[in-house]
Amino acid sequence: MAKSLIFVVDDEPESGRLLAYHLEKASYQVDLFSNGPDCLKALDRNPSIVCLDMQMPEMDGLEVLKRIKQQDSKVGVIMVTSNNVIDTAVQALKLGAADYIIKPADREKILATVEDTLDQTRVVGQIRNMEKNMESAFAYKNIVGESQAIKSVFAQIERVKDSNVNVYINGESGTGKELVARAIHFSGPDENRPFIDINCSALAEGLLESEMFGHEKGSFTGAIGTHRGKLELADGGTLFFDEIADMSPKLQVKLLRFLEEKSFERVGGTKKIKVNVRVVSATNKDLQKEVEKGNFREDLYYRLVVFTIHVPPLRERKNDIPLLCGYLLNKFKDELNKEITHISPEAMDILNHCRWPGNVRQLQNVILQSMLMSQTSTIEVEHLPQEIQKVQGGASSSVKGESASSEGERVFEEGSESDPAGSNRISLDEGEKQTLLSALKMTNWNISEASNLLGISRTTFYRKLKKHGLNQTRG
Ligand SMILES: Nc1ncnc2c1ncn2[C@@H]1O[C@H](COP(=O)(O)OP(=O)(O)OP(=O)(O)O)[C@@H](O)[C@H]1O
Ligand SMILES: [Mg+2]
Repeated sequence: MAKSLIFVVDDEPESGRLLAYHLEKASYQVDLFSNGPDCLKALDRNPSIVCLDMQMPEMDGLEVLKRIKQQDSKVGVIMVTSNNVIDTAVQALKLGAADYIIKPADREKILATVEDTLDQTRVVGQIRNMEKNMESAFAYKNIVGESQAIKSVFAQIERVKDSNVNVYINGESGTGKELVARAIHFSGPDENRPFIDINCSALAEGLLESEMFGHEKGSFTGAIGTHRGKLELADGGTLFFDEIADMSPKLQVKLLRFLEEKSFERVGGTKKIKVNVRVVSATNKDLQKEVEKGNFREDLYYRLVVFTIHVPPLRERKNDIPLLCGYLLNKFKDELNKEITHISPEAMDILNHCRWPGNVRQLQNVILQSMLMSQTSTIEVEHLPQEIQKVQGGASSSVKGESASSEGERVFEEGSESDPAGSNRISLDEGEKQTLLSALKMTNWNISEASNLLGISRTTFYRKLKKHGLNQTRG
């Protein structure tokens, strides 16, 4: 796969070429510009990153940054500056820059910063892909995911979509069973056929019966007119029984008879009505156990469960999480009238390590809540709901190693090993903040020296300053 396209904008040919050289060596594609206006004109080439010199005669870096963000808020901008003035960098970050590099920077620092920024923009790129091609492998009929686990679900849908066999979908709550049911129907031979869903746990038995089979006028108090039931409405299409395990014994008998005879009578009626439907059913309970317990008819079980699709819980396909996040940010964009394009690496790390007992539905709620909390284009850790924030340090012990996106990450997480519930997270955070402050005070607010003192990279140091809101204070 070709590496990302990076724009380098610098009025000094030497320093621009040097930066381009390092990036090209790392096999990035680089376009070099000697001024801001030229770079702005070329933005439709869709660079992933723009490295922008701060001091340029015609139009300075901050101005170019502003205009880039107006044109395309998703591109990651790294400011390149020759003076070590934190104020200008802070100003740039407020305007939406992802990071900054101080000239002359060594190769390692440049590449680390670029990679960090690419990480941040990846989510955004995924949104773009989604928009362009919802039918891609990432989003099979609105089911987003690229993990092996979800791909195997896609493959199973493919296998049954053109047939008429009854399909049983099993999986925990919020995993997307209803989406799968719809995908089976809407990717089938004639998507204009009816798809009718019946929630077996939402209605009392009598109402559900009438809802399913319909009723004749006067068949019970309140039955003013003749009413066609959902079985009739679904003729030629798909009937989706959601929460099938909750169906009462009486209705189980009636459903079984319908499946055997392919016909039924309306409540209070005698006329046989014939319909041809494919039945898809779903539950988050263990239907086989319900059979063993005597709550669900075995004969009905075998009628319904001809082909089983198991939708795995989100924790077994965690590599779908970033993609789902991107999709959800995009999904709620219009609803909330809020353009949030980034999730900070720290927040993403937490999302990646949650157990997600409520699966995709829970992730959806968390993204929605976080979007409401954020006043910028990024979701940071503090925007996540409280209970999710606690996950850091509470996830499996491998978290610490994995989350170390640079050498500094581990520094502050030492000791959290003994904190399975993440209960002392607040004090760890406070400790981190105090450590940053003391280092800054000791070095008279010199970022380079302070980060050296703590043995972490400047990028990491700066990110941590931002996290604690220290980038806007001095002393
Ligand atoms: N892979 C996915 N991609 C996009 N959205 C998803 C995905 N999986 C689930 N969702 C969304 O999450 C929510 C829950 O999904 P759905 O209703 O299909 O779950 P379910 O398994 O039927 O849950 P329950 O057992 O509680 O009824 C829906 O809003 C759905 O659109
Ligand atoms: Mg459901």
